[in-house]
Amino acid sequence: MLEISDDGRTWLLTGPTSSYAVHLTEGDELLHLHWGPRVALDDAEALAVRPLPEYWPFESPLDGREEYPVEGGPRFVRPALSVRTDERRGTEWGFERYETEGDELRLRFCDGGLSVTLHYRMRGDVVERWVTLDNQGPALELLRADSATWTLPDREDWRLSQLHGRWGAESRLARSPLTYGEKVIGSRRGHTGHQHLPWVALDTDATEERGEVYGCALGWSGTWRIAVAQLPDGRVQITGGAGYDDSGLLRLAAGESFTTPVFAGLWSDGGFGGASRAWHAYQRAYVIPDADRDRPVLFNSWEATEFDISEEQQRVLARRAAAIGVELFVVDDGWFGTRTSDRAGLGDWTPNPDRFPSGLKPLAEYVQALGMQFGIWVEPEMVNPDSELYRTHPDWVQHQTGRKRTEFRNQLVLNLARDDVQEYLWERLDGLLSSAPIDYVKWDFNRCFTDAGWPGGPYPQRLWVDHVRALYHLLDRLRAAHPGVAFESCSGGGGRIDLGVLSRTDQVWTSDNTDPLDRLAIQHGFSQIHPARVMAAWVTDSPNAMLNHRASSLRFRFVSAMAGVLGVGGDLATWSEEELAEARERVTLYKEIRPVVQRGDLYRLRPPRGGLSAVQYVLGGETVVLAWLQAQSYGAPVPALRLRALDPTESYECLETGEIHRGAVLVHHGLRVGLHGDLDAAVIRLRRI
Ligand code: GLA
Repeated sequence: MLEISDDGRTWLLTGPTSSYAVHLTEGDELLHLHWGPRVALDDAEALAVRPLPEYWPFESPLDGREEYPVEGGPRFVRPALSVRTDERRGTEWGFERYETEGDELRLRFCDGGLSVTLHYRMRGDVVERWVTLDNQGPALELLRADSATWTLPDREDWRLSQLHGRWGAESRLARSPLTYGEKVIGSRRGHTGHQHLPWVALDTDATEERGEVYGCALGWSGTWRIAVAQLPDGRVQITGGAGYDDSGLLRLAAGESFTTPVFAGLWSDGGFGGASRAWHAYQRAYVIPDADRDRPVLFNSWEATEFDISEEQQRVLARRAAAIGVELFVVDDGWFGTRTSDRAGLGDWTPNPDRFPSGLKPLAEYVQALGMQFGIWVEPEMVNPDSELYRTHPDWVQHQTGRKRTEFRNQLVLNLARDDVQEYLWERLDGLLSSAPIDYVKWDFNRCFTDAGWPGGPYPQRLWVDHVRALYHLLDRLRAAHPGVAFESCSGGGGRIDLGVLSRTDQVWTSDNTDPLDRLAIQHGFSQIHPARVMAAWVTDSPNAMLNHRASSLRFRFVSAMAGVLGVGGDLATWSEEELAEARERVTLYKEIRPVVQRGDLYRLRPPRGGLSAVQYVLGGETVVLAWLQAQSYGAPVPALRLRALDPTESYECLETGEIHRGAVLVHHGLRVGLHGDLDAAVIRLRRI
């Protein structure tokens, strides 16, 4: 809901539990009024007339209060907008008008020929904000154009939560006190990056299920930055957008415009768990395509076969996958060009004639005859120097004149800002998806930008932004032309996970780390912002060959992977009859709990910190608990799990044991789970009766 004061200077957006209000002063300063529990327009207007505190001349009364601080004038905070022309730098804007379209509010300001429109839209309790810049004056340089600045209420002792990591160790939750100055996270790598998810949360005294939490998440899959600033008077603002540096995002010629990515903000008073559930609901309702369609159980060949693949060997794996109940069979790397190792072939998107003499169609049809969907791996934005593509078009990669072309994993990054590169990729991928009945594409991105130059390009820096736009455009175009095909975003595991890519992919590859214990912490962090519906997780071989050689039971591996979109990535050709039979049972169980896991509300009952950890999913009268015991020590009994969101006046049947539990007992005294020893795990289903 959007309400506007009679004088047209105060705007109030309201969601189911929260409100957000801004006010334009007589001097055309756009001030933040309120973000928090629901308030009335009268409350917002009362806030608007409260006088600002007096400041000595060394501070600005605007700092920490403006909705979108521009550079220049009486401001000392980090500007959200920084513009340079040949003559001057900074912005001095005047208010033009406000507009509404549906539930979207637009506040339009102008500085000469440049118009700056701030967009606001409430989606549930999530406020979506973005900015459009339209230049009708002389050419200018956008040094920085953030999507939004978020202002927190006056409180003491803020804490910052973030999701940090690296390859094989993504999205791990860290929480620390905020101190004066700025905390900056981001990526200057060309993709979202494994190092930080573009999300922060701030609280003062929240627990998992209680207290106020403010969160912000950016929808951009390229270079980005979020800065959390605690100003000298203790006020806190969060500014974020595309680009890491302030050294030139884009050049806007006369008549050109730029739309920033969406920066979404959420207030919740349901603790960290309540905030996560609101984020999940938002993404399922407004971001993720077809979120009400459950994702299938997949098999992926990567860990089983790596580059050493053949059609016959994939058929053997497919038969075994089908026999354990897999619904989607994915051939990973190695099926195309001369790709028999990571040294060659990237860029040449035609099936390797030695390995697939008649193309992919026969295998795809074979897989489908087994009752499964068929999927493939691609990495379209890259090229190996040892490829037909690179030999033909050495100028198609990002590079600087006369400088080295840095290789990572023996590959270079294609310059997707170029129209010819975009057209090549469109033709190849469209052709590929038309050449065989392909249902699914795992889209990878396995190195960062290092030599992001474009000799002869109109404004070489723009490739940082244009690469992401081209990627989005390509995905959108392919989705439109092949509506039945699902896409997974992968970047060496979880290097490209954000609200932008999630709005055009069906799931993401969470991490190349498939060790089921490490995964619990990765998944705990991931769940702070993103839902289980997009979190791909595979059961692979034990000991874990990729990362840490940890041995674990098939049960533990399955229950760990059941917390998201279940997949199997082990070498099924080497699994024993007993293992295959157990896998079949667990896949069947997963299919039963899948609607609750993928569409239900998530409650994190205990975080993974060494002993017992557990999550609970609730959908209507169905409840699923996944519990993991890392290690039992000193003979201590395993604690009971106090369940959430059950009706204390109702009874619940445990489908595993047939026992009837009273809701009040489960909520107040907890469910006892029979776990023992090291790396034990269980699935418990409860149904309201
Ligand atoms: C990346 C992905 C893996 C696999 C390999 C293939 O590392 O994260 O899952 O697809 O590439 O080369």
